[in-house]
Amino acid sequence: MIVVLLASCSQDVKKYRIGVSQCSDDIWRDKQNSELKIGAYFHDNVELRFAAAYDSDERQIQQIDSLVDTGIDLLIVAPNQVSTISSAIDRAYDKGIPVIVFERKTNSKKYTAYMGADNYEMGHLMGEYVASRLNERGRIIEVMGLKGSSPAIERHNGFRDAISQHPNIQVVATLQGDWTEPTAYKIVKQWLDQNHGDGIDLVFGMNDRTAMGARKAFNEVGGSPLPLFCGIDGLPGENGGITLVRDSLLDASYIYPTHGDKLIQLAVDILEGRPYEKETKLMSALVTRENARVLLMESDEVMRQSQYIEKLHQTARGYLKQLASQRTLTFLALATIVLLLLLLVGIYMYYLQKARIDDERTQMEREQLDFYTQVSHELRTPLTLIEGPLAKLAETPDIKNASAGASDLFAIVRRNTQQLTQLINKMLDAQVGAPRGDMTGEQIDAITASQESGIQTEGTVPDEEAPTVLIVDDNADIRAYLRSILQSRYRLLEAEDGKHGLEIAREQVPDLIVSDVMMPVMNGLEFCQQVKSEVLSSHIPVILLTARAMSQHQIEGYQSGADAYITKPFSQELLLVRIDNLLHSRHLLRDLWSNRPAEVGNKPEEPASTSSENPMENAFIAKFRKVVEERMSDSNVSVEELATMMGLSRVQLYRKVKALTGNTPVDLLRKARLSRAKDLLTGTELTVSEIAYQVGFASPSYFTKCYKDEYGVVPGEDRK
Ligand code: FRU
Repeated sequence: MIVVLLASCSQDVKKYRIGVSQCSDDIWRDKQNSELKIGAYFHDNVELRFAAAYDSDERQIQQIDSLVDTGIDLLIVAPNQVSTISSAIDRAYDKGIPVIVFERKTNSKKYTAYMGADNYEMGHLMGEYVASRLNERGRIIEVMGLKGSSPAIERHNGFRDAISQHPNIQVVATLQGDWTEPTAYKIVKQWLDQNHGDGIDLVFGMNDRTAMGARKAFNEVGGSPLPLFCGIDGLPGENGGITLVRDSLLDASYIYPTHGDKLIQLAVDILEGRPYEKETKLMSALVTRENARVLLMESDEVMRQSQYIEKLHQTARGYLKQLASQRTLTFLALATIVLLLLLLVGIYMYYLQKARIDDERTQMEREQLDFYTQVSHELRTPLTLIEGPLAKLAETPDIKNASAGASDLFAIVRRNTQQLTQLINKMLDAQVGAPRGDMTGEQIDAITASQESGIQTEGTVPDEEAPTVLIVDDNADIRAYLRSILQSRYRLLEAEDGKHGLEIAREQVPDLIVSDVMMPVMNGLEFCQQVKSEVLSSHIPVILLTARAMSQHQIEGYQSGADAYITKPFSQELLLVRIDNLLHSRHLLRDLWSNRPAEVGNKPEEPASTSSENPMENAFIAKFRKVVEERMSDSNVSVEELATMMGLSRVQLYRKVKALTGNTPVDLLRKARLSRAKDLLTGTELTVSEIAYQVGFASPSYFTKCYKDEYGVVPGEDRK
């Protein structure tokens, strides 16, 4: 589009189309046409269209009509005859096309301007010349131009008017020619064949070609001397009148002016609306032996100038062409640059758009993930509450002993519940594309393990010594279900959100926590983190039980410090095995005051020190040892007092110490006393009774009993 736009800017000069209709085709017309062309070079808005009719009226009419049809802006016409061509010229004029008639005339008034020499004057001057050349006495022949063409008529009239002034000059014949040499030759030959050529002093041919035709005829007939021959046109160059006069083939000629340059100027003036002459008379001159050489020299000079102009024009055209192609190249380069810029902008926009779409997609995926998490949570919770109770129901005598129909229906319900669970899992896997970890495998392993270990879920009521499990879940049904699974094995505590859960964990120091993740007030992750960061609760294993099944969620869960992560819906066996394992694999800090080899996590060579992975636990134990060792010699010291010294309640101290060491504070106090007593027995001379009182026993007999229980021997034996 840009190229077309720029290219069209360079073509905004309006061109005038000028039609040139020539009646003939000869050297005079050639000279004039080339002058017209050179004249047009001086006007870059002029385009010429030539037509030559070869002396035919019909052809010229046709040519004028078709020039008009091609849409010319002005017509230059030399009509073959005065009346025959007028209709075509009138048609052009009536269409509003300006018409310049030149050199020959028409009988119509429908023309814009006329330009040409005065043919009557020319004929008259030629008559005067002939009379003086023949010294007022002689016989002459006149050979006419084409009958009906204006120069022929006017030249004849002028010639006859002049000759009639000289009574001794006699025109013996007036022959009708048609401007061409062959016709002139033919008619003069015919005349000579019928009349005697002797005694003819001069032949006036109305143009040089006619004069030369007559000369040829006289030459052939012989007879001497040859008459003089005069013509009109006076062209330079080979076969031109001036050359013929110089070479004495003609006696005289008359320059019939062509002036193509003047004609073009007139045309442009008319087209551009400038003032112009309606009738322009072109000046002329006689050519004789006296001036022929000079005239030839002058016309040679003019020719040279014309050729020079022509050459200049060709050079200029070359430059213009170059300029045009350079301009096209420039336009193309510009267009390419613009296109490249557009392309760059396009690419930039594309990437912007792409980035935006990517952002939107990421956002959508996040929302989708949230949505599915939400949905899965919503679906998994009720499923858990269907699947779990169904599994338990299946074990009851009611279902086991049910009628075949009822147990079939029950089986259908169970099977379809399981299928629904699988479908939901698959849907989540497919939609979110996130692996759900290897919980399934883990679940299977766990189930197998639980079946092998024969864990019982029903029947018994937990005793005082059973571990305490805290259940944290906002869904009352889930809590009820968990209760139904766990109540026979563990003492249970419950909370409906993380905040409440944390309060209970601090107060009661449970042995294990099972917590949901998505809860109001404080979610499971925060809760777990908090539990793990406080001295009192840091040792408590936490199982996160949740619908958030994706790896990312599990990672978050473990990062919060969780010890296990179980997804809903979960198998009852899996949960039980998990709890069992966690409770048993606790890193118990035993033998704080035992001289026996350590059972777990304590090296025999460091009987008095304990170590844990967790520095918080180590600090706690160190403090507890210090408090006990300070107060143990007082037989009245109570656990309450020790707890107060630790900044805890009796229950808190009891649970924390029990969880960490497997022993109660009272047990540990006794172990501490006995351990000190053992040292005293072997390292001092004190009596058994003295030692018993010193380490805080109220009676020596009770000391002896405890010592035997702890070390398998009575104190007296160790004394030995
Ligand atoms: C050229 C010509 C000239 C003559 C003129 C008359 O076509 O024949 O020789 O002088 O036309 O119109």
